[in-house]
Amino acid sequence: MQQTSGREGWSSRLAFLFAAIGSAVGLGNIWKFPYVTGVNGGGAVVIVYLGCVILVVIPILFGELLIGRRGGQSPANSMAALARSEGRHASWELLGWLGIIAAFLILTFYSVIAGWSLAYVFKTIRGAFEGIDAAGAGAIFDGLLADPFNLAMWHALFMGITVFVVGRGIQQGLERAVTIMLPSLFVILLILVGYAAIKGEFRLGVDFLFATDFSKIDANVVLIAVGQAFFSVSVGIGALMTYGAYLPKNVSIPRVSCVIAAADTLVAVLAGLAIFPIVFAYGLEPGEGPGLIFVTLPIAFGQMPGGTFIGTLFFLLLAFAALTSSISLLEPAVSRLEEKRGWKRGPVTAAAGAAAWLVGLGTVFSFNDWAGFSPLDGFPTFAGKTIFDLVEYLTSNVMLPLGGMMIAIFTGWLMAKSSTLDELGLKDGLVYQVWRFLVRFVSPVVLALVFAFNLT
Ligand code: TRP
Repeated sequence: MQQTSGREGWSSRLAFLFAAIGSAVGLGNIWKFPYVTGVNGGGAVVIVYLGCVILVVIPILFGELLIGRRGGQSPANSMAALARSEGRHASWELLGWLGIIAAFLILTFYSVIAGWSLAYVFKTIRGAFEGIDAAGAGAIFDGLLADPFNLAMWHALFMGITVFVVGRGIQQGLERAVTIMLPSLFVILLILVGYAAIKGEFRLGVDFLFATDFSKIDANVVLIAVGQAFFSVSVGIGALMTYGAYLPKNVSIPRVSCVIAAADTLVAVLAGLAIFPIVFAYGLEPGEGPGLIFVTLPIAFGQMPGGTFIGTLFFLLLAFAALTSSISLLEPAVSRLEEKRGWKRGPVTAAAGAAAWLVGLGTVFSFNDWAGFSPLDGFPTFAGKTIFDLVEYLTSNVMLPLGGMMIAIFTGWLMAKSSTLDELGLKDGLVYQVWRFLVRFVSPVVLALVFAFNLT
């Protein structure tokens, strides 16, 4: 077993890959990707998304993992150590803190939405959707959102499971959880795609996802696709940086980065192939929005033979995917707290989880009692945004691209070439040159543009 500065590390390359893919594959793939492509006209988003993953996200992922492994500690301490050894300003430590805080903030709302999927596992199993129509499915979803107590409980259950896993440590907790859940997730997903292929309008689904209407690509689609690519691959903040700190030295960062990004994209596409053929077979609306899988799909589950079983499997898939991601959102804060002398993983994890739950109540109330409360109404960009909208905006549209840009600048411009060559395990050949070009010129520029557009 590899030890990084006396810490527990992953037991193998495969364990790391499972954990990192588990982090990447989540609500972003199964909930957000299908509805975002649905709303924005399908193939156009998919093609821009793929371009972003290859040109921007993968190069930054190289950088994020190499910082994590070279630093060998929590994002904050890794950045501080690297700034020192590379002779850069000590304030680069703030980039690590940005990552830790962003991951924590994402967790606060992620757990609420993951709670919906837990609620839906139980609703489907009990046959709540049998024979239901659109109005009925909408009423069930609205009913769930309208009840803050209920939401807070599901949010607590999900956060509790996350804390339980993370509290047990890297090998006993994270590694065990992902080795069970990630393969199950793939099996469930393939069953669902198989079902959609046999019983759904598969051709229409495929066309919708892959037929690219280039006239639909505009600044807004690019913006959405970039944000989605970052969020989906878990890049830009401390999550994979922290996972990188536990990575054995002999593992090739370029290779695992490509595997992670490819697996994540594959799952997003498979989720689309499981969902859209069913949507079309039942004459439902692909552009439904965030309610696509919670309102639209239950109608189909309620009508199809064996729908209770298929539906339960679907929401279980969603919950599993969310859990392997939420643990990577809690780990950065835990890894930093654990660095304080005498602070033990168990209590620290429980405290961080409790804090995230508490802050998450802001998201819970955003769907009911505080739905009309938009604290930043004075600013045009933020007018009408609930607390949930604001946290989501701040993390996905500000902190992720900002973190990504800083990682690109630090690894591309500020670290010595010899350091990055060494950590990536590459020779100064084509692969390295391409990476260095992308991370120095392409990623920061694309991100700066995204940033400028976002804030106007
Ligand atoms: N990638 C996950 C998803 O698609 C969410 C996630 C986990 C994440 N860790 C992250 C997003 C770190 C950004 C950064 O649902």
